[in-house]
Amino acid sequence: MPLVTTKEMFAKAYEGGYAIGAFNVNNMEIVQGITEAAREVNAPLILQVSAGARKYANHTYLMKLVEAAIIETGLPISLHLDHGDSFELCKTCIDGGFTSVMFDGSHYTFEENIKRTKEVCDYAHDKGVVVEGELGRLAGIEDDVNVADEDAAFTDPDQVEEFVERTGIDSLAIAIGTSHGAFKFKGEPKLRFDILEEIEKRLPGFPIVLHGASSVVPEYVQDINECGGSMSNAQGVPEEMLRKAASMAVCKINIDSDIRLAMTAGVRKHLTQNPSHFDPRQYLSPAREQVKQLVKHKIINVLGCDGKA
Ligand code: G3H
Ligand code: 13P
Ligand code: ZN
Repeated sequence: MPLVTTKEMFAKAYEGGYAIGAFNVNNMEIVQGITEAAREVNAPLILQVSAGARKYANHTYLMKLVEAAIIETGLPISLHLDHGDSFELCKTCIDGGFTSVMFDGSHYTFEENIKRTKEVCDYAHDKGVVVEGELGRLAGIEDDVNVADEDAAFTDPDQVEEFVERTGIDSLAIAIGTSHGAFKFKGEPKLRFDILEEIEKRLPGFPIVLHGASSVVPEYVQDINECGGSMSNAQGVPEEMLRKAASMAVCKINIDSDIRLAMTAGVRKHLTQNPSHFDPRQYLSPAREQVKQLVKHKIINVLGCDGKA
């Protein structure tokens, strides 16, 4: 099976009240951990690549790793550009074989965001590639984008119909209180489900995307802290909130930080318990296994897309 777009995945997810996991990939062990988990539970998958991941691992290496995963698993997999910040980057990924791109124009004015997102949509749609746009601003840190809490803004439901209509996007990322990274809430975690409900009313049947959706799994944070790390105050989105979002219009849930934590906890724990080991295969094997277990857990207990491939 070749790479697929997210069109059919999202239509089925919306109808079925579940979501597809969009997991960030940066190297072979991460690709293998995620795709092996999805294969075992027969789940459709979105593998996403950020500008930083392309810089780190190289476009061709990532492309070939994902192609290998398709051969090994036979699953429907979509390869997505995460947080594309320019037409040129989106075009490079579209021309280079990605089946889905995000243009993140959330830091532009409404009109500029529409103009730039539409330019990407026009090019992508001609090539059979789907586009995710973003309205509203998440707090947190991404490559080259550092959004302070006070600059973050919830998505305005009054703008979503016009944005979708004028850009032609295929899915919409919204801001309802999640943020990127491992430190998401200062106090009690809170998501604005009222805004999601309102958006769902304005855009019936339209797939919504939730970024910043790692739950910052406490056992990994604890392992990291017990093995020489320092991650106090780490806090993520409670899984029951993600399950609720998945049962609503949210069809794509983005997870990166939990993968980083699973991997780092695996490496730290292994090296703490085996201080004489220096063969990377010795510490990357348990790290890859932790990524696999994490993704399986997310698919079954959070996303609900097991058995839907
Ligand atoms: O939302 C951002 C993702 O976690 C990717 O992070 O840009 O550091 O690769 P990155
Ligand atoms: P987390 O940092 O919560 O994993 O979010 C990842 C993300 O939104 C990637 O686009
Ligand atoms: Zn994101």
